[in-house]
Amino acid sequence: MADIAKLESELLAQIAAAPDEAALEALRVSALGKKGSVSELMKSLGTMSPEERKTQGPLLNGLRDAVTGAIAARKAALGDIALNARLASEAIDVSLPPRPESQGSVHPISQVLEEITLIFADMGFAVAEGPDIEYDDYNFTKLNIPPDHPARQMQDTFYVAPQGDESAHVLRTHTSPVQVRTMLNHQPPIRIISPGRTYRVDSDATHSPMFHQVEALVVDRGIHLGHLKWTVEEFCKAFFEIDTIELRARPSFFPFTEPSLEWDMRCDRSVPGQIKFGTGKDWLELGGSGMVHPRVLANCGIDPARYTGFAFGFGLDRMAMLKYGIPDIRSFFESDLRWLRHYGFAALDIPSLDGGLSR
Ligand code: DAH
Repeated sequence: MADIAKLESELLAQIAAAPDEAALEALRVSALGKKGSVSELMKSLGTMSPEERKTQGPLLNGLRDAVTGAIAARKAALGDIALNARLASEAIDVSLPPRPESQGSVHPISQVLEEITLIFADMGFAVAEGPDIEYDDYNFTKLNIPPDHPARQMQDTFYVAPQGDESAHVLRTHTSPVQVRTMLNHQPPIRIISPGRTYRVDSDATHSPMFHQVEALVVDRGIHLGHLKWTVEEFCKAFFEIDTIELRARPSFFPFTEPSLEWDMRCDRSVPGQIKFGTGKDWLELGGSGMVHPRVLANCGIDPARYTGFAFGFGLDRMAMLKYGIPDIRSFFESDLRWLRHYGFAALDIPSLDGGLSR
């Protein structure tokens, strides 16, 4: 009896003082292992008389439980100590300035996206978003491009495996399906832009299988081509940061607009490797636009007898290439740090309309 109590107090003291997990494990083996001190005592139960066993049994069980419990408690405490030590040693002072050698920069696409958002926000547009994996119905059919329409071949589409329901999905080939999503969820007045990633089976110096567009959509009573022209002009002036731009609209065709126009901007490319806007004999393509087709309005639950709208979709990467003189679209997506150091923007230089967009 005295032996059991003594052994227990000795073991508990050793356990409480175990400096680490390895020492604790050695103690566990020496007490509770096959040949451990507690296990040996438990074995002696078999040689006792029934009377003795009645008194010794509960005592020995108590000893074993106390030791087991003490080991578990010490193990948890050692875990806490180790975690606290690690937290203390890995503590980071987030208020310290960054190391000069690890300064990041803003990707030109992000910069241009910021700039465009800012310009349109100033004109009262909201930003709308849609998913990259889009319903075939929203990417094509609701935009007046039925399944057998030749325009589907104009856009080399990445088709996507079924997403768990009956409807067909694609990687969106343009940001125009965000028009559909917006109109299905909101009645006019609508004034949104939607910048985002788009995908087509295409790759060369001016095409990337993943690229970016910015869509604009305005729907209200009495919207006409003049509103479209003014918006495109104001946007281009602000984006290219010159007042003397000259735009040209060419008739075009898109199934989702009637009439449809494409916009070009006057520029001078006579000096190789340089581009000047507002003068010169060259024209540079910005993107497509038009008055939203009445059938598209109706497909999206908007009454074409009451409302009209305009829309445009410009290539964001192309605009970044033009503005910042970047020759190859593929370089945007190669994650080359040297390239990013050259073309990137200072992280804390946030574009502003009064401070200058690009500085
Ligand atoms: N979605 C067209 C494309 O990717 C571009 C476009 C043309 C968008 C006319 C529009 C529009 O919103 O009105 O080729």
